[in-house]
Amino acid sequence: SLFAGQALAGDDKWLSPVYKEIFQNELPIPPPKDKKYSYYNSTTNRYIDYYEVEIKPFEQQVYKGLKPAQLVGYDGISPGPTFVMEKGREAIVRFVNHGEKDISVHLHGSYSRAPFDGWAEDVTSKNQYKDYYYPNHQAARTLWYHDHAIHHTAENAYFGMAGFYILHDAEEDKLNLPAGPYDLPLALAAKQYNSDGTLFSPADETVSLYGDVIHVNGQPWPYKKVEPRKYRLRFLDTSISRAFKLTFEDSKSKKLPFNVIASDAGLLTKPVQSDNLEISMAERWEVVIDFSQYKGQNVTLKNARDVQADEDYNSTDKVMQFVVGNTVSSDAGNGNLPGALRNVPFPPTKSGVDRKFKFERQGGEWKVNGVTFADVNNRILAKPPRGAIEIWELENGGGGWSHPVHIHLVDFQIISRTGKRPVLNYEKEALKDVVLLGTSETVRVIARYAPWDGVYMFHCHNLIHEDHDMMAAFNVTSLADFGYPETTKFIDP
Ligand code: C2O
Ligand code: CU
Repeated sequence: SLFAGQALAGDDKWLSPVYKEIFQNELPIPPPKDKKYSYYNSTTNRYIDYYEVEIKPFEQQVYKGLKPAQLVGYDGISPGPTFVMEKGREAIVRFVNHGEKDISVHLHGSYSRAPFDGWAEDVTSKNQYKDYYYPNHQAARTLWYHDHAIHHTAENAYFGMAGFYILHDAEEDKLNLPAGPYDLPLALAAKQYNSDGTLFSPADETVSLYGDVIHVNGQPWPYKKVEPRKYRLRFLDTSISRAFKLTFEDSKSKKLPFNVIASDAGLLTKPVQSDNLEISMAERWEVVIDFSQYKGQNVTLKNARDVQADEDYNSTDKVMQFVVGNTVSSDAGNGNLPGALRNVPFPPTKSGVDRKFKFERQGGEWKVNGVTFADVNNRILAKPPRGAIEIWELENGGGGWSHPVHIHLVDFQIISRTGKRPVLNYEKEALKDVVLLGTSETVRVIARYAPWDGVYMFHCHNLIHEDHDMMAAFNVTSLADFGYPETTKFIDP
C-alpha cells in the first residue's frame, strides 16, 4: 500500500502495520442516542429529556490476524452514539464512568454554563457518575462531546471518547437541505498502531501524535455507497494532532467542487463554493456535494494538508471513498441550495485589540502567555464583563507547530489572519469556536462574552499540547461586579 504504514524518512516512530483493506469496509454510522424518559420541570414549565451514557471498555479488531485494539467509549462504541436534539428542548445527560481512568465530559460547541462545561479538573472517577445539563438553546449546529479530563484528554479521546451531538431547529429545517440518509456525520481520526495490532498510546507523547491510519467514524479508510444526488456531509476532526486539507477527486484526479454550508456554530450566511476544505482538530465544517455526475463511479476523499506544522508529513493522502450508484431513491433535499442560509449573529464591529495571547513552547512546556494550566494562581488570563464584546489576538509564538485554539462558551468571528494564509472564504461567512493558528500565524477574533458568568477554559486543541498544559481560563464576571444591577442571568449571544 502506498498510503498505510509509511513513515517519514528516517522516523519510524509513526509506523503502523500496513493496513490491507483500504476502501473495503463500509463506513459505520454511529447509532442515535435514545432518551430514557422525559419529565416536566414545573419551575420552567418545560419538558426535559433525560439520557444515560455508560463509559465502558470494548475491543475493536482493526487488523485481521493481529490483536484487537482495546478501547474505551461512550456506550462502548466509538464514535459514541449521536445525540439528535431539537432547539428549545433541554436535556440532562448522566455519564456513568465504568472505565479505569478519570473522565470529564465537554459538550464542545454548547454554551453550557459552568459547572456543566467539562472543566478539566471536575473529574468523574471510576464507578462514579455526573449529570450534565445542556440548554440546547442555540441555533442548529453540529456539536460533539468528548473527554476533557485533566492531563488525560488525549488518551481518553483517542481511545474512544468522542461523539456527535447534532442540534436541529425549525429555521434550518425550512431550507430543505439533504436530510436523513443524505445527511452524513463524518468523524475523522488519525491513529497509530503497534506491530501487534493494539493501539499505540499517546500517554508518553509530549509534542504531537499525528497518526498514519486515517479513520472515519471509527473505521480505517472506509467506503460509503451513495446515490447520484446531493449529500450533506458533516465533517469533524477528532484527531489529537492531525489537521486535514480535504479534496474530493474522481478517477482522473479531477477535483469536485462543493459548497461549504456550515461551521462550528451552524449555518454560514450563504453557501461558499470551494474545491478543498481545511479542517483542523475539533473544527466542524459541513458541505453539500453533488454526486449526480458520477453515476457508477468512485469519488475519493483525499487529504493534501500542507499548511500545518512543518513537522507534519503526508503519508496519509487518502481518507475514504464514495461509491456512487446509478439510481436516486428520493429527491427530497436534492434541489438547488438557497442563495442565503441564515442571518449569522456576528458581533457588532469595533476597533482595537482587547487582549493578546501568545501560544508557544517555552522550556519544554506548552504555554499561553507564559502560563500553564497547572499554574493555578495565574491561569485566569482574562476577566471580560458578562456581555462584553472583545477582540482577542491569538498569536502562534513560533517553533514550527500549529495550534488550533478553542475558546469555550462563545462563538467568535475571525476578523484577520496574518502569516501564511488569509482568512479563508468560508471562514469569512462563519462563526467559529476553534481557529487554527498555522505556523507563524496571528489571528484576531471577536466575540460577545455571554451568556453566562463563570470561569471557562480556552486552549490548544492539539490534545497533547492541551494535556501538557497549553490551557488557560477566563472569568466572565457578573455585571453586578461592575456596579450594575443584576437584571437577568441570561444574555443571548
Ligand atoms: Cu473540544 Cu476544551 O474542548
Ligand atoms: Cu498547540
